[in-house]
Amino acid sequence: MEYLIGIDIGTTGALTGIFNTAGQAVASAFYSYETRHPRLRWAEQSPHEWWQATASSLTAVMASSGISPRDIKGIGISGQMHGLVLLDKEHRVLRPCIIWSDQRTDEQCRWIMEKVGTDKLIALACNPALPGFTAPKLLWVRENEPQLYDKISTLLLPKDYIRFCLSGELMTEVSDAAGSLFFDVTNRSWSPEILKALHIPQEWMPPCVESIDICGQITREAAEATNLKKGIPIVAGGADNACAAIGTGIVTEGLASSSIGTSGVVFAHSDSVKCDSLHRIHTFNHSVPFKWYLMGVMQAAGLSLRWLRDNFFAREKETEDRAHRDVYRLMSEEAAQAPPGCQGLIFLPYLQGERTPHLDPYAKGVLFGIMPHHTRAHIIRSTMEGVAYGLKDSLDIIEEQQLKIIQVRLTGGGARSKLWRQIQADVFGREVVTTQVEHAAAFGAALLTGVGAGVYNSCEQACSNTIAIKEHIQPVPQNVRRYHEYHQIYRKLYYNLKQTYTELDSLVSRTR
Ligand code: XUL
Repeated sequence: MEYLIGIDIGTTGALTGIFNTAGQAVASAFYSYETRHPRLRWAEQSPHEWWQATASSLTAVMASSGISPRDIKGIGISGQMHGLVLLDKEHRVLRPCIIWSDQRTDEQCRWIMEKVGTDKLIALACNPALPGFTAPKLLWVRENEPQLYDKISTLLLPKDYIRFCLSGELMTEVSDAAGSLFFDVTNRSWSPEILKALHIPQEWMPPCVESIDICGQITREAAEATNLKKGIPIVAGGADNACAAIGTGIVTEGLASSSIGTSGVVFAHSDSVKCDSLHRIHTFNHSVPFKWYLMGVMQAAGLSLRWLRDNFFAREKETEDRAHRDVYRLMSEEAAQAPPGCQGLIFLPYLQGERTPHLDPYAKGVLFGIMPHHTRAHIIRSTMEGVAYGLKDSLDIIEEQQLKIIQVRLTGGGARSKLWRQIQADVFGREVVTTQVEHAAAFGAALLTGVGAGVYNSCEQACSNTIAIKEHIQPVPQNVRRYHEYHQIYRKLYYNLKQTYTELDSLVSRTR
């Protein structure tokens, strides 16, 4: 029997899965790491901690599966996008990674738009400069940490640092490189024009290949640290959203996914390059060779519910393991006691600023409309509904780009909740489906490995051989009508508060 390994360097931890070539999960292991917030709107992680978590999860899956390393056909890596990992010429990590949710670079974004020119930037990178992207972070380092900047020899994205630890190779691939803003998305290569305009040496960028290309092998040191065998091939892999799309079968036009992880993502496959003229959604390179995707991103989808859990369900969290009851499941059951629309309670999920549809690093979370009849159940449900309204905003914008979506597949941790699945169907006003796949990003990375290693002929074949629809969820017409009305109020709230968000942010920055 042959097996494929997929690793996902997520926001909360590293997950490794072993899959057989029929797509069944044989073993998985998850090891968490910390996000540090040294200042307001900052978010950083340690690449060393990613590696420790990855090595532990690989060791654990190899031990628990009992599979011989000889039967592992290859390894693929998926990872959180946009993080800035800087190495010196000895390949030592120069500073903690500034991750995707960091919002410190508003000023640098404005400078990039001015320097490259908005029209040119959109024509090349297909996206405006956003605070979470890699390029403005590098400029922030240049301005604020010049001594460190002088030592830079290579820039890597998070999963590519793990590739380096496993294989010693400095490489990247198109789906992740696209999120750096240094990339020519149409031509699928680094953009000398953008790099030159921003005075960034092109030598710092690692070679860039397609996601299915094999680009390294496990070294002896990595084999010793992980229970693997020297020489196992490593496929290029992809950005977490592109890999999750492969793992959910979003590989042809008409298919889209709605994912609730830490971030919230609506992802739609596209055979051609399509850009939103109002710059509300991203256009990036898919891990399917020579295809693209449109994507709306919310900064705090699952993170909103996690925030609620960590702050208001601490007692349940403490006894979670002893009571064998997952707190998210308890929260979902409690939320189901409140009716759709939460009798007037609306949650805006802008805990970490927002990207789609409002590009605003200063936006904040809001619980609007609290009245005496509201209970904890209403607060949980309104959080879930607020996330679904945000996802619907992305879906609507994607459909405005002449991309007809015929099926939406739910994925991510949020899809585990029956209530959240139904809320999505009702808020979207359409049927949604789930697949049998548990860890879509790791699975997608494993499928890319299978394509690279010749187990499957193509990404399309890999998906059709291994992915099945598990459940169809129909919208309830009466809920659809009610949510439609609440969504109109949800939409207005952002505009009413926009100015006040900025005032609040500057007060907090001064007084925190
Ligand atoms: C996508 C994005 C997030 C991260 C974290 O643009 O920033 O979805 O990839 O998963």
